Amino acid sequence: MQNNAMTSFARQPWFLPVAVLIVIILWLQLSPSTGGKGGDGVGLGDSISHEQVKSLITSEIRSALIDTAKSTSTDGTKFPPVKVLPDSQRLRILVTGGSGFVGSHLVDRLMMQGHHVIVLDNMFTGRKKNIAQWVGHPNFQLIIHDVVERIMLEVDQIYHLACPASPPHYQYNPIKTIKTSTEGTLNMLGLAKRSKARMLLTSTSEVYGDPEVHPQKETYWGNVNPIGPRACYDEGKRVAETMMYAYESQAAVEVRVARIFNTFGPRMHPNDGRVVSNFIIQALQGKDITIYGNGKQTRSFQYVDDLVEGLMRLMNGNYSLPVNLGNPEEYTVKVRDCPFLCFFLFRRHTDAHSPLSFSLPFPPLARNPQDFAVLIKELTKSNSTIQMLPATKDDPRQRRPDITTAKSKLGWEPRVPVRVGLAKAISYFAKELEESGEIVPTGSDPTKPNQKKQLGGF
Ligand SMILES: NC(=O)c1ccc[n+]([C@@H]2O[C@H](COP(=O)([O-])OP(=O)(O)OC[C@H]3O[C@@H](n4cnc5c(N)ncnc54)[C@H](O)[C@@H]3O)[C@@H](O)[C@H]2O)c1
Repeated sequence: MQNNAMTSFARQPWFLPVAVLIVIILWLQLSPSTGGKGGDGVGLGDSISHEQVKSLITSEIRSALIDTAKSTSTDGTKFPPVKVLPDSQRLRILVTGGSGFVGSHLVDRLMMQGHHVIVLDNMFTGRKKNIAQWVGHPNFQLIIHDVVERIMLEVDQIYHLACPASPPHYQYNPIKTIKTSTEGTLNMLGLAKRSKARMLLTSTSEVYGDPEVHPQKETYWGNVNPIGPRACYDEGKRVAETMMYAYESQAAVEVRVARIFNTFGPRMHPNDGRVVSNFIIQALQGKDITIYGNGKQTRSFQYVDDLVEGLMRLMNGNYSLPVNLGNPEEYTVKVRDCPFLCFFLFRRHTDAHSPLSFSLPFPPLARNPQDFAVLIKELTKSNSTIQMLPATKDDPRQRRPDITTAKSKLGWEPRVPVRVGLAKAISYFAKELEESGEIVPTGSDPTKPNQKKQLGGF
């Protein structure tokens, strides 16, 4: 009877297609090679090695971690997106002075590349808000520490930036500035030697002092007053360079030395008393723009993103001698809007934005601080007047980098036009002013970064 029922069931016209369909569904569900997932997963019956299982698990854990990191920190803030690097490519990178102006931009780039970044900073001129975007991220670590003291860490690269860079700040405690550049650099070199890390020192154009050759090449030895008010910084950096090459030749430490020229951009300390910050703060508040000296001294200004790109190329390249990183255009520029007919006589200047802006085919007039002040007035649409004050001691008259080495050895040159960089810096300082109400620009006298009452003037 049961047999009869089954036979009559099997004779039904729909039986065969339905049976085939059921077999296909069962096969898809149980097939070891597809695992029911369209064939891109690891099936139940596949032979899979212990290593594969391990890598699957770690990559899943890692993406879970990064996903969490991308979305929220413990206090609910969002992190900027970071690349996920395999362990074999993720470096442990130490950035001393990483909460300062340049350091914090470098930290941003390294974090976004997916590296593990350790910031070491005593917060003298550094500010936590510069790196607040990373606090709590699993790839980020902040250590409040003075480089003058020894520290034991395991790292692959060291960017050694720790040192106040603005004259009023480094002159505030000259002995400490010397210790930072000497003892601090020795400590970092010891760490580089122990952990076999490559180390980059952020030296400065100040090693050229008040230069007698123009523009300055890396082969120029400089003209520094060893007992002047700037000596604690200039000579500190010069001996720091000496230490770098002593460790290279005697202890086989891989070293890189960047000689940085004036740099500007968001996160500059509002009280650093430097040309860019002071001019912008004064212009935005309608105060006098103060210039020391006759205003004929020349400077170059590079945007911070260009500098960071140069530092990273230097660190990861093969060239180990000092390299100038700066914007040479700044010295030569007297970018004027030119009447249309000038088009055939003048070539276009790289700094120019307006299609009507050109520079002369012969060496153009140098841009001096007064020109720069005019430019800032123009960009901030300010009514400030320009006030000339007596020159500060040992202020160099001319500075302009020769960047032939950076071009040929690193394929680097500045890309951000000064006006574009200035627009960003202006909006940053406008926000700072909004937050603090008023900022009294720092004068030329030695000053503590957080001193409330400034000494006036620039
Ligand atoms: N910004 C420029 O135009 C410029 C030009 C030439 C060279 N540099 C060099 O670049 C580096 C960074 O300059 P910046 O403009 O960002 O300056 P900055 O003052 O904003 O940053 C320096 C950082 O180092 C920290 N620091 C200072 N002394 C320290 C110590 N003893 N221990 C630990 N941390 C310490 C500060 O707190 C700060 O976070 C410096 O080495 C500077 O000499 C900068």
